[in-house]
Amino acid sequence: MTLIQITQPAPVATEQPGERQNGAGLVQISPLDSPRSNSEALAPKKLCSSSTAIAPKKLYIKTWGCQMNVYDSKRMADVLRPLGYSEVSEPDDADFVILNTCHIREKATEKVFSELGRLKKHKTRRETEGKSTITAVAGCVAQAEGDVITERVNHVDLVFGPQAYHTLPEMIAQLTGAYGANRIINTDMPTEAKFDLLPEEETAPSTPVAFVAVQEGCDKFCTFCVVPYTRGAEFSRPTKQILTEIRNLVAAGAREIQLLGQNVNGWHGIGLNGETSNLGRLIYQIAEIDGVERIRYTTSHPRDMHDELYAAHRDVPQLMPFLHLPVQSGSNAILKAMNRKHDRDEYFRIIDKLRDYRPDMALSSDFIIGFPGETDQDFADTMEMIERVKFTSAYSFKYSQRPGTPAAILTHQIHESIKDLRLQTLQNQVTTHQQEFNKSFEGKIVPVLFERSGNKPGQIMGRSPHMQSTYVLIPPHQIDRMIGKTMDVCITGGYQGSLAGDLVTT
Ligand code: SAH
Ligand code: SF4
Ligand code: F3S
Repeated sequence: MTLIQITQPAPVATEQPGERQNGAGLVQISPLDSPRSNSEALAPKKLCSSSTAIAPKKLYIKTWGCQMNVYDSKRMADVLRPLGYSEVSEPDDADFVILNTCHIREKATEKVFSELGRLKKHKTRRETEGKSTITAVAGCVAQAEGDVITERVNHVDLVFGPQAYHTLPEMIAQLTGAYGANRIINTDMPTEAKFDLLPEEETAPSTPVAFVAVQEGCDKFCTFCVVPYTRGAEFSRPTKQILTEIRNLVAAGAREIQLLGQNVNGWHGIGLNGETSNLGRLIYQIAEIDGVERIRYTTSHPRDMHDELYAAHRDVPQLMPFLHLPVQSGSNAILKAMNRKHDRDEYFRIIDKLRDYRPDMALSSDFIIGFPGETDQDFADTMEMIERVKFTSAYSFKYSQRPGTPAAILTHQIHESIKDLRLQTLQNQVTTHQQEFNKSFEGKIVPVLFERSGNKPGQIMGRSPHMQSTYVLIPPHQIDRMIGKTMDVCITGGYQGSLAGDLVTT
């Protein structure tokens, strides 16, 4: 059996911003050159120009992790469509199975290995039926642990990182024997190439909300986080490419555009005038595209807030009054140990400024509980911050030691039982605020963009400007034509995680 390994930048704890590992210690085995040069030579430039006489095949993609992974999975399906692959919702009879993985916490990584165990059964059964299955591990676990995967699991054929999926056609050609290889690891990191190969036309989004990756990677190096190692250095797509993608998505039915990036508000792509732009400016330009009804962006870093972005929140009616702005902790000591490069007062100043520009701004955040050395006082500072900002939702996680990150080797790791208690306390408080916030909408009229049918007969689900899931009962036969429409809803109930209401009829 041949193993082709393209590159494998190892996560290193000592890495500092600006000193990225760039493929040091790589093993590169011919015949593959760098994927960049290969893709230029081999990959189809127009992904939508499907060729004739290609046997239909089934593709199953399971996605974990952030929205960026969801976006990447969609793009993998785009890349594979011209080869005859169409997506299915179960792995049982798939010719090609891709696990698009997340490495952010230990549990996320463990899930991949259990899923691989289950998939082995499908592969073996299909073999007895004379059918072959390609099993691939993609995404951030692949990037960080490519070698470990091929060592531990012998039925994985393909391991490729988040920046390599545009080379899938060549990887498949190699796997299926063209060059004699039958296992490939591709963890090279040429970010631009994957964005250069987007389809010229978009397939209709499954909901009226479309995601557009505008930025990828991270140079911040928070001491707990694997993302700078798995996604690479910050990269911003050019304005022209982004606007084209959005125009295509709107033509295919999108009404809301969610801009994605690991540090989306740090986007600094080339503007239409050839100069470096910023996210605020980009949002003004997106708002001018006919048919864009709503704009959101996620996820932001406090340090990357900038004046034109605040101004956009004041001036651009399509920019929704909701921002996910992770802070991680309310304690200055912990923020410093996390290398967040801002303190709690700076965070409060940002929130105050946002609310000056947009008084009804709702905020959400991420918190890590039990970072090494977190004292009762540190946790009390976090709780005080929550009380002050009154987040309308928040994601909170127990700190998870990630191999290769600086915090993993810190002493004073916090006991699980303390983490559990603090997590529960924090979540209870956020829930209370969320409930109060939602209740305050009772009796108000709210514009809701309907996204999909709900679980009950006749129920339709949409989002308010503040991102609240809103449920309305309508005659079932009307649901299809309501999806994609923004309608006024009179809120009759505000609950912890949702709103209920009736359509306002005129
Ligand atoms: N800026 C990023 C953050 C990505 S990670 C973005 O695009 O969203 C998402 C969240 O996972 C972080 O905000 C943090 O709260 C959490 N997280 C990251 N590393 C973690 C770790 N080692 N343990 C627990 N939670 C972690
Ligand atoms: Fe991770 Fe976000 Fe920090 Fe970057 S800014 S290192 S992605 S938590
Ligand atoms: Fe997970 Fe990678 Fe996203 S580690 S959170 S899938 S950037």
